[in-house]
Amino acid sequence: GPSLNDLARQSGRRFGSCVGTGRPGTLTGTFADPAYRDLLVAECGLLVAENEMKWGALRPSADLFSFDRAEILLNFAKEKGLAFRGHTLLWHHVKWLPAWLNSHDFGADPVKGVEKMLTDHVAMVAGSYKNRITSWDVVNEAVDADTGLMRETAFTRHVPAETVLDITFHKAREVLPQGQLVYNDYMSWEPGHAKHRDGVLRLLEGFRKRGTPVDALGVQSHIMVIDGGPRYEEAAWKRFIDEVVGMGYGLLITEFDVNDKGLPGDIVARDQGVADYARAYLDMMLSYKQTGDVLAWGMVDKYSWLQGFTPRTDKKPQRCCPYDENFQPKPLREAIAASL
Ligand code: XIL
Repeated sequence: GPSLNDLARQSGRRFGSCVGTGRPGTLTGTFADPAYRDLLVAECGLLVAENEMKWGALRPSADLFSFDRAEILLNFAKEKGLAFRGHTLLWHHVKWLPAWLNSHDFGADPVKGVEKMLTDHVAMVAGSYKNRITSWDVVNEAVDADTGLMRETAFTRHVPAETVLDITFHKAREVLPQGQLVYNDYMSWEPGHAKHRDGVLRLLEGFRKRGTPVDALGVQSHIMVIDGGPRYEEAAWKRFIDEVVGMGYGLLITEFDVNDKGLPGDIVARDQGVADYARAYLDMMLSYKQTGDVLAWGMVDKYSWLQGFTPRTDKKPQRCCPYDENFQPKPLREAIAASL
């Protein structure tokens, strides 16, 4: 049958997944499993690095760049004829920036120091791959999900957060005049995301007012069946998306997976519940012609970041991805196929 990427291509989209090389210093991630590599080749038209292009991976210290692990993934994609997205030039979140940066001394003229740090990074990273990577999550998660305000980082001690983002996007545009520059975040349609959605809207409005070159909103799409659910705010979400596209932004689904914490343990019913929830979400998102590429944040349950990040209370593995531990397709795979 057709691959997920074949199906996506019928509507001018691409389907892809993240892939990772594992913990720093090891090669134990999804990439190391040959069955996983085969699955990526079978289903995907593009890949994204799970961690290998973040500051934590590329910048062991202030004056060192380390591209080795990113190169492993890029070389694989090239060999297999798969496209590659960039993630991310600036994850504007102290929790995910390297420790050295969070305590960095930006020198006698810290405003200049911040600007130089950001522009050097974009020039080096986006510049090195400009012939291979034309779509970047330029900035990731700059809006605080609880308050809707901009996150504070080492950079914002000296420069307002909006300016930090503007500097980064402008440099990205200079390096990639034709590139797709994306603001990526995890506001979602479940209850509890209203402030996050509002904050992202204010940020996107500000970009337009200031002429910041941003082409699309990356909707991470870590969707979740909440306890007693599924529950989602479809009308509020559509108002949000309508405002986003109304400002002329494109859309991408950048990190799709389904957190099944709210579903009882039984596997058959759980897999169906996950699939139904995904179908409702993807049908809604793909009803927007502005929605472009669709990427899963992992293809196989046992390798998903959710196993560690949000384990189920019954300790059973999350069944959040399109394929099970034996690389067999699950109802979620069929739901994605049906939506595409
Ligand atoms: C996650 C990775 O999957 C984990 O391996 C890592 O420990 C933390 O980051 N939003 C994002 C992604 O933008 O970069 C995150 O990836 C998941 C949430």
